[in-house]
Amino acid sequence: MKLHNKIVYVTGAAGGIGEGISRRFVAEGAKVAVADLKLDAAQATAKRLTAMGPGEAFGYEADVTDENAVNASVAAVVQRWGGIDILISNAGIQIVSPIENFSFADWKRMLAIHLDGAFLTTKACLPHMYARKSGSIIYMGSVHSKLASPLKAPYVTAKHGLMGLARAVSKEGGPHGVRANVICPGFVKTPLVEKQIPEQAKALGISEEQVVKSVMLGNTVDGEFTTIDDVVEVALMFAAFPSNALTGQSLIVSHGWHME
Ligand SMILES: NC(=O)c1ccc[n+]([C@@H]2O[C@H](COP(=O)([O-])OP(=O)(O)OC[C@H]3O[C@@H](n4cnc5c(N)ncnc54)[C@H](O)[C@@H]3O)[C@@H](O)[C@H]2O)c1
Repeated sequence: MKLHNKIVYVTGAAGGIGEGISRRFVAEGAKVAVADLKLDAAQATAKRLTAMGPGEAFGYEADVTDENAVNASVAAVVQRWGGIDILISNAGIQIVSPIENFSFADWKRMLAIHLDGAFLTTKACLPHMYARKSGSIIYMGSVHSKLASPLKAPYVTAKHGLMGLARAVSKEGGPHGVRANVICPGFVKTPLVEKQIPEQAKALGISEEQVVKSVMLGNTVDGEFTTIDDVVEVALMFAAFPSNALTGQSLIVSHGWHME
């Protein structure tokens, strides 16, 4: 087991990619805090994962834009399990619209969930990692941390911003034994993406099939969606890496949609 007894705090973990990472980490022996907007959803996921074992999970209500909720849930995890080894800052949403129609409220909401959420969870977890002189922080970026698409201005802005945060955390955390890295997935068929298909079709005036084939997968090498399991493999690699040589990095997992 690669994460035996590691204590992990995962945001947006009740469903989608966050749930997939949590499930695999429990399978690798970790103790996983499943943090999400709704307590019942987080608890239901945690219960399922604990039943699978051999690690365990516990559900926490934490809107990542709410400093008090983040701090309270991190404190509760530390009280329950004694510390934090790994943070997966994963919670995210998508809103698609041309810039001239993007409401300022939606812009601020997007930046709050993706960037404030990453900052607040990092700030809450770092002191516990510094106390152990070790820690791994993983931000869920995107191919949109590297390039832009139309209709996604705040998403692209926020995902680029996570690259800067990861590098800053690497610099500050390095002397304390803490590393920070970014995963950059291509399109993964989760509710976040399912919701976008009809929205993009409408905004671009094309069919849903064209959105999938041209907009989402047109630049991949094989026309395939990235899967949750693909992203999970990268998360496990960053989390279980045996030293802090791997820090301030980003890894794209996108069927070759973007290469660097
Ligand atoms: N699906 C993709 O194609 C894709 C590609 C690249 C990056 N990502 C990123 O992966 C992450 C997870 O996306 P997903 O596809 O699993 O989405 P999803 O919609 O399936 O799951 C997102 C989870 O985050 C939770 N969440 C939303 N707002 C929150 C908040 N304020 N506080 C706490 N939890 C909140 C939701 O309740 C949900 O459980 C996001 O950061 C997303 O930008 C997704």
